[in-house]
Amino acid sequence: MAEETTQPTDVAEDDAAVVQDDAAESVSSDHFGRSAIQDEVVLEVDDLRTYFATRWGTVKAVDGVSFTLRKGETLGIVGESGSGKSVTALSLMRLVQSPPGHIVGGRIMLGGRDILQLSESDMTKVRGGEISMILQDPMSALNPVFDVEDQVGEAISIHQKVKGKVLIDKIVHALRQVRIPAPEARMKDYPHQLSGGMRQRVVGAIGISSNPSVLIADEPTTSLDVTIQAAYLRLLREIQSESGLGIIFITHDFGIVAKMCDRVGVMYAGRLVETGDVRAIFNHPQHPYTQALISSVPKLEEKTARLYSIEGQPPALYNLPTGCSFAPRCPYVMDICREEYPPVFDQGDSQRSACWKLDGGKRLEEAIPEGTGAGAGV
Ligand SMILES: Nc1ncnc2c1ncn2[C@@H]1O[C@H](COP(=O)(O)OP(=O)(O)O)[C@@H](O)[C@H]1O
Ligand code: SF4
Ligand SMILES: [Mg+2]
Repeated sequence: MAEETTQPTDVAEDDAAVVQDDAAESVSSDHFGRSAIQDEVVLEVDDLRTYFATRWGTVKAVDGVSFTLRKGETLGIVGESGSGKSVTALSLMRLVQSPPGHIVGGRIMLGGRDILQLSESDMTKVRGGEISMILQDPMSALNPVFDVEDQVGEAISIHQKVKGKVLIDKIVHALRQVRIPAPEARMKDYPHQLSGGMRQRVVGAIGISSNPSVLIADEPTTSLDVTIQAAYLRLLREIQSESGLGIIFITHDFGIVAKMCDRVGVMYAGRLVETGDVRAIFNHPQHPYTQALISSVPKLEEKTARLYSIEGQPPALYNLPTGCSFAPRCPYVMDICREEYPPVFDQGDSQRSACWKLDGGKRLEEAIPEGTGAGAGV
């Protein structure tokens, strides 16, 4: 990675130490997420719809997405590029660029209220407070002209009115939580002085500094070297087990989902097409799109970047076909698939799949919100 070659030696060594520490716990095929799920629901998303008004028409980037997130669990949202994962994340933060984007429907229940109903000033307290997001690219998340102390300190002081020595202690604590070595010295560094792995950790420190109940990690590892990825994923799990944080983990990589997540929602063309326990979905994918995604993961043990080999392209979201959006690429397509969006079928074990191929199984009519025809809520 180009950015890694420019790092000062001591920083590279810091990463190496963390990575080495992580090597013992590499991706293993029998590790399917974490087991200690607590029952308390921290976030409930119901029939979320986020559309963009474009000159080509209305882009239905998120179209009837429902899921719940429990305390201490990791929920994966997986799908190809352009399926609506990031717009889902931005909607949860109410950071969708508007215009052209608008959240046109749904509810996002957090801490007992619908955050879609909050005023912008109340939402500012929630954002980066109870719900926090780690951006895809650590470099764009950090401001190059401020040092680590300023950036982590700013995040902390927004939500906790502290100054001076108390603030410094909190900054050091946050950096320590993300296992940054020698935090007192390292907090004087600017982003360009840090390696990719350390930058990612600083972004992580900002993300958790407000002690949120929900953390959204949107493809947090894509710009990182695979060994640093493994260390970072492990770090997220450690923080979670210490704090009971609920994590929404967004990725295009089913291999990472299998390693990281407890439950998963598979997203295609703005909708969740299959949802459930990661182990159930990974072992018995029912939806043809999930099957294709999983078969494009070579081996769980391989820590390599993976490319999809699903034939065809995801549809343009302003011009979705009538019926199932996957129909043009689906090897099992039937006439009805092109006529009507499939209902959700209960596969047992909390697995739900929206596919006509499963007709004859238990339909979950009530799971489909009136008028949207969408989604297998997880
Ligand atoms: N600012 C925007 N203006 C118009 N369309 C947008 C905008 N942002 C996102 N979209 C649409 O939403 C779709 C989903 O995008 P995104 O959620 O970023 O996908 P991904 O699953 O790769 O994260 C895109 O294919 C694009 O058509
Ligand atoms: S509904 Fe039809 S086209 Fe869609 S995934 Fe199922 S079988 Fe394929
Ligand atoms: Mg994205």
